[in-house]
Order: sequence, then C-alpha cells, then structure tokens
Amino acid sequence: MNIEAKARTFETQTSETLIIGVQKHREQMKNWSTFSDFYGETINTWLHAGEISTDSKTITKLPFSGNHTSLKRIYFVGLGERKHMTANELREAFATVGKELKAAKVSDIAIWVESFTTDQFEETEVAYLAGEGLNLGYYTTLSYKTTSNEPNTYLDQVQFVTEANIEDVVENFEIGKVYADAVNEARTLINLPPNLLTATDLADYATELANIYDLEVEILNKTQLEELGMGGILSVNKGSVEEPRLITIKYQGKPEWEDVIGFVGKGVTYDTGGYSLKPRDGMVGMKGDMGGAAAVLGAMRIIGETRPKQNVVAVIGSTDNMVSGEAFKPDDVITMYNGKTVEVLNTDAEGRLVLADAMTYAKQQGANYLIDVATLTGGVIVALGKDKTGALTNDEEFFEEFMEAAIETGEFVWRLPLTESDKKRIRKSEVADLNNSPGRDGHMIFGGGFVGEFAEGTPWIHLDIAGTSDAGAPHALGPKGGTGVMVRTLATLVELRDN
Ligand code: BES
Ligand code: ZN
Ligand code: ZN
Repeated sequence: MNIEAKARTFETQTSETLIIGVQKHREQMKNWSTFSDFYGETINTWLHAGEISTDSKTITKLPFSGNHTSLKRIYFVGLGERKHMTANELREAFATVGKELKAAKVSDIAIWVESFTTDQFEETEVAYLAGEGLNLGYYTTLSYKTTSNEPNTYLDQVQFVTEANIEDVVENFEIGKVYADAVNEARTLINLPPNLLTATDLADYATELANIYDLEVEILNKTQLEELGMGGILSVNKGSVEEPRLITIKYQGKPEWEDVIGFVGKGVTYDTGGYSLKPRDGMVGMKGDMGGAAAVLGAMRIIGETRPKQNVVAVIGSTDNMVSGEAFKPDDVITMYNGKTVEVLNTDAEGRLVLADAMTYAKQQGANYLIDVATLTGGVIVALGKDKTGALTNDEEFFEEFMEAAIETGEFVWRLPLTESDKKRIRKSEVADLNNSPGRDGHMIFGGGFVGEFAEGTPWIHLDIAGTSDAGAPHALGPKGGTGVMVRTLATLVELRDN
C-alpha cells in the first residue's frame, strides 16, 4: 500500500474517491464549511433533508460532478452522536467503509481526517483507527473456486486531506495497518482447509514469520517431543499420520532475558474429537481449532514490526486429533511433560492436554507471565455467546492490566470464576493426579482450570476463544470465518507495558 506522505486539500488530492465522516450535529463538525465551500451549498440541503445519513456506520455514496481533476464520488459515513462516539465505533465505521470499498473494488482513496475528529479523538488517533478499520473491513477470504476469474483487489493508495502534522497522521495510519494486517493473516490461517494446514505447515509458517522479523525460532518434531516426554501433545497426536510440532518464537526487546511474557496457543489443525468422536455436525468447522495459535502468531507479527522494549516468548502446540488403531482412548493414563499424570476421560478434551505441555515449556523458556489462548470449549459459547471471549486467571493484577488492553482494542472479554471446588474436580481421579473432563456443568471452567494447573503459581490468564475465533456470519469488522480475535489485544498488552 502506498500511504502518501504529503498533506492534501480537497482541491489537490488526486483520488477518485473521498471518505468523509458525518456527525449528527453538523454545527459541531469542525471546518465543515471548508468542505461545503468546495462541494457547493447543496450538500447542506441534502444533509439537512436526511439524504446523507448520519446514523452510525451508515454509508451514503454520492457522485461528484463538480470541477476537479480526479474526484468522482464521495463516501459519507455516519458517525452518530458526537458525544457517544467511542474508539470502537470509529474503528467499526472505518471497517464498514473498508467493506464497501472492497465490494466496489475501489483501491485508491483520500480521507478527510478532520471530519472524524471530536474533542476526544484528534487526527492522529483517527488515522490509527482508519488504518486498522479500513484494512480489517477490506479483508478478502480466499476462495478455491475454479470458476472465479475476478482478480483480487487491494486497498493500495491512500492520501490524507489534512491540516495536521502529516508525518504523525501517516505514522499512526501505518501502525493501525500493521495491526489489521496481522489480524488478517490470522484470519487466513484459520480459514485454511485442514488438508492444507497440518502441524508441519503451521511450523513452516511460523519459521517464515520469525525469519522475516529476525526472531529466534525453534521447532520440535515428534522424536524430540518423545525425548522430552511430552505425553500431552504426543497422546493427542497418536491417532494421526501427521507429525506434531512444538513451535517456539522468542522476541527479546530488553537487554536481559527477564520479565518475560509467555503466549501459549492451541494449534489443533483438526479436531475430530478422537474416539470420543464429535457428532457429524459438530465436526464441521474444526479446521479452526488452531485459532489460538493464529492469535499468538498474529501478535508476534505485530511485535516483530513494532519492536517494543519487552521480552516475549510464544509457544504453540500443534497436532490434529484423529482416530486410528493407534489413537489414544478414554481410560488411558498419560504422563505430561511436567511429570503429572492425567486420566483421559474424553479424547475430545484434547486442547488442554496440548496446552499443558506448551505451558510447561513456556515456563522453562523463562516466561514469568502466561496467557494461553485456545478454542477450548463449547461451554464458553453456552455461557457467553459467540461475541465474547471467556477468561480465567490466578492473578488479579495481571488480569486488570490485560483488561486495559482488551478495552483499548474493543475485544470483549469476560472473566468467569475458578474456585477451589472447581480445582478439586479437576484433581479428582482414582488413578492419576488430574482428569481431563470432570463433567459438562460449567465445563469452560474445567477446561481452562486444567491448563491453569500447569501455570504452577506463575501469573496466568486463560482465554477461551471457541466462540469468538470463527464468525458464523459477517460482523462489524469483517466477513464470516476466522476473526483473528485476540491478535490485537495480546500485542496491545505488550505495547502498553512498553510505555
Ligand atoms: N475444539 C473443541 C472446542 C470447540 C467447540 C471449539 C466449538 C470451537 C467451537 C474442544 O476440543 C472440545 O471438543 N471441547 C469439548 C470439551 C468436552 C469434551 C469436555 C466441548 O466443548 O464439548
Ligand atoms: Zn476436542
Ligand atoms: Zn479442540
């Protein structure tokens, strides 16, 4: 994308398409008259008559036939009441524009930045949200249709109509775009069919990412996992013809390797449920069971771009969960990497087994804080719906810090309790230290709580994204399919620590 480093006016901008925000009370919009002088007085009549909607996230397209070398159309995007406007509303407004631009195959735009400002949001903040929102909305889902011959379009030219400091505007737009691009990468990973994304493929992807940003990367194969005794991930992998992988990426932004944040991702590339087989309808969509891994990789991409002064280690356990004569079974007793034994009661509760070993490994790599991200349970969807990520924690302070990041990105996270009696049920087994499926009542808590057993006192947050990682229908920030949820929040957490 070419983001033009030169401030433009309505007259000097050279795009065919101009993007303008319209707020409910025109008299409160700064410098509206500059625009109406340019466009002509009729614009005020139309706005007054309601021909141009000021309703939040509603777009009105008007052709422009005035005197200008390039301008052909204007997209007015409604922003609603000025005093109700939030960063999230603005981000979503830009995403709505992004979707419309995509649908109309527009790839070259100019944005009148000031039209989106309020007392709370100055042009730099608007530029950031524009960079994020427009690029999130513009996302294209890959298609494998052989009949489609339409070339893909990209948003590849952006200019700013602004009187603010153009360097600041451009820099903020670029950072917003870095965030959106990473989310879009995560979306694409999630949307990949499982025959095209095995654990080996995911590890190759991670290696490539690490190489682009000069990050340290380590990939452990099956033999290496056997040598280490990673019984969790290996048991889940037993039924598969595909090898498992444990992926570790390190980003060192401080002189010493201390105060390390660990991101741990569930990278189950397909979840059939194993012998506790999923019903046929429940299995479709399980290509997205690596959404946690995608979130972690997306966050590492942002960190690789923005280079904060923080230390981060990402660990992803990856395998599929299949059936065969060699697959693990309910009633198996397995020994995890940290030495704890687990009675397997349900092979469909596989994510927690994979994550547990990855958590232990992250701690060994020096993680002082742990956040695991996983499409872990259907229970979180029953509890919170498809638009809220469920959380658990063992550390109030760390969770508060995390929530600041989540609020900033607008990604809804809601914490559930994890009580001593919940832990007792996870630890209840006649033959082992833990069991992997204490029951269906409140099972989001058991799933996350099981992973928490492997934090062993390290401050830890669990994020169950089973509901939020994959959208069943188009939503405010993008299309149906992988959402890339938590990419932005994880990266923002690191960024906030940097300040
Ligand atoms: N991958 C699933 C969870 C899931 C469900 C993700 C729906 C996305 C959408 C997970 O491995 C699983 O099967 N969990 C079981 C746990 C149960 C056996 C205790 C579940 O939620 O039913
Ligand atoms: Zn499962
Ligand atoms: Zn799963």
